Amino acid sequence: MAQAITPVDLTITPRDRRFGRGMRITTVENGRWWMGGDPIATAFYNALSSIFPKGEAFFVESVRAHREGASPKLAGEIKAFVTQEVMHTREHVAFNRRVNEAGYDISRLEAAVDDRLALLNGKPPIASLAATMALEHFTAILAHELLADPRHLAGADAESAALWRWHAIEEIEHKGVAYDTWMHATKDWPRFKRWKVKAKVMLLVTRNFVVDRTRGTLALLEQDGLSGPRIWARFAWFALGSPGMMRKVLRLWASYFMPGFHPWTHDDRALIADAERDLGGQGPERTKFVIA
Ligand SMILES: [Fe+2]
Ligand SMILES: [Fe+2]
Repeated sequence: MAQAITPVDLTITPRDRRFGRGMRITTVENGRWWMGGDPIATAFYNALSSIFPKGEAFFVESVRAHREGASPKLAGEIKAFVTQEVMHTREHVAFNRRVNEAGYDISRLEAAVDDRLALLNGKPPIASLAATMALEHFTAILAHELLADPRHLAGADAESAALWRWHAIEEIEHKGVAYDTWMHATKDWPRFKRWKVKAKVMLLVTRNFVVDRTRGTLALLEQDGLSGPRIWARFAWFALGSPGMMRKVLRLWASYFMPGFHPWTHDDRALIADAERDLGGQGPERTKFVIA
């Protein structure tokens, strides 16, 4: 199999959009259970959003720490990646504020991210880049699934659905950046060592991701007074059965371990084009927010 690379004609376009500002909670459907009145789906996405501000700041730092000596193309992509992630953080901070206003306390979920990131203290910076690369693959495959199957966001209010679609578009668009930065930073490593570290870190990151997101979702459901085996079973069905986000990303997740894998082995730019049309009013002319 020929080694895939980031497409030469790919442009990473930060889209400076804001969502849900001034949105008033008037019903259960646009407030506490914004995902179509479904507490399980709402808790899953709320738990995911809770970790984005700290998580994405960590991604940005890890990638920036290794940009030295990057080609002009990669340097430009890193810059655009940073701009996109910073705006994602801004919008998820606003979204998380609405989650708070709806009555949830997400502070323990945020603290759990700090605990995970603390495990990287004292480790060489390349370990953070390997974790970022694995998590960026995770976000890219979740983003792919989110856009590929409209059932995932079918119940969401319009502003929240638009926020998640916008984020998914940009996660797909910049999915090669952490990977290419890793290839640049480890260019002197033997091939097998690269693969071994990459695979080991992905297994660890996956275990933590599944455990932490499950814990986070169940903790938020507890705040709704929903707990016990029936709720756990409903969550398992949501994640693995229908709509089954975690089951449906398995094949793309596994592709990470294939020799010669690159995030753009799977070119899913058609999803971006479709989602952008749905989002409306997009395009480079809307880009005003750039980080030097
Ligand atoms: Fe992001
Ligand atoms: Fe990202």
